[in-house]
Amino acid sequence: MRILFIGDIFAKAGRKAVTENLAKIVQKEKIDLTIANAENATHGRSLSQDHYNELIKAGVDMITMGNHTWDTTAVYDVLSKNKKIIRPLNVDPKTKEAKSGFGSIVYSIRKKHVRITNLMSMQCSARTTITNPFLVLEELLKAYPKDDIHIVDFHAETTSEKNAMLMAFAGRVSAIIGTHTHVQTADEKIYKGTAFITDAGMCGAKESIIGAKPQEIVDMFEGKLERFHLEPAKGDYQFNSVIIDIDNKTNKPKKIWRYNINNN
Ligand SMILES: [Fe+2]
Ligand SMILES: [Fe+2]
Repeated sequence: MRILFIGDIFAKAGRKAVTENLAKIVQKEKIDLTIANAENATHGRSLSQDHYNELIKAGVDMITMGNHTWDTTAVYDVLSKNKKIIRPLNVDPKTKEAKSGFGSIVYSIRKKHVRITNLMSMQCSARTTITNPFLVLEELLKAYPKDDIHIVDFHAETTSEKNAMLMAFAGRVSAIIGTHTHVQTADEKIYKGTAFITDAGMCGAKESIIGAKPQEIVDMFEGKLERFHLEPAKGDYQFNSVIIDIDNKTNKPKKIWRYNINNN
C-alpha cells in the first residue's frame, strides 16, 4: 500500500499544483491512496464546494483540514454533505462545529481498513474550542483498536508538540504527518513502527510567506500593521508531499520520503 500525503493546499496556486501534477504522480509512483490537507484551498481560508469538487476530480481520495476549517460559514455544508473530507476531531463536543462532519473515518482500500484521523493543536487559533489532541487520540484508539492502517494528520505549529505526538503514539498508529506550518521539514523517518514527518509542507505560490503575499506579513512583523489577511500570492508554485509505503502483510510502514515539484 502506497500513500501520498499532500501538504496544505493554499489558494489557486496550490490547487493548480495539485490539478497539474496529481494524476501523473499517482501513475508514476503507483499511489493507492491520496490524502491532502485543504484547509487553505479556497483563497487561503477553508474549502468551498467548488474547490472540494476540483480536488476530488484531480484525484484526491481524502481531504483533511485544520484551524482554518471554520473561516467560512459555507464549510458547514461542505463538511455535512460530502464523504471525502474530515475536519479536526478534537473540537469541543458542545460546540456547533462538532455537529458538522467527522474527524476520523475509515476508508476501505485493497481489502484494508485505513483509518484517517485529523487532529489539531490547542495552540493553533481557530474559530471554535479545541480539546486536548493527545487525550482525544488515546480515546479513539481505545474505541477502535483494530484498524489495519491508521494515518494521523496532526495540525500544529510547534515542532516539539508534533514530536511529542510521535513519542506518545509511536507503534500505535501507522503514520503521524504534521501539517499547518507550510514549511516542509527534512526529518522524515520510521520510528518504532510509525512513519513521521514534522511538517509535510505546502502546495502554493513559491514566492510567498506560507502561500500569502509577503508585504503585509513583513509590515506586521515590522510593527506597521496590527494583523495580516493572508492574501494569496500568485506566480510559480511548489508542490510538497510525502509518500509512505506500508507493508501489505504486516501493515507496518516500511519507508517514508519527501516528494516535491517546483514548476520553474
Ligand atoms: Fe495551512
Ligand atoms: Fe493551519
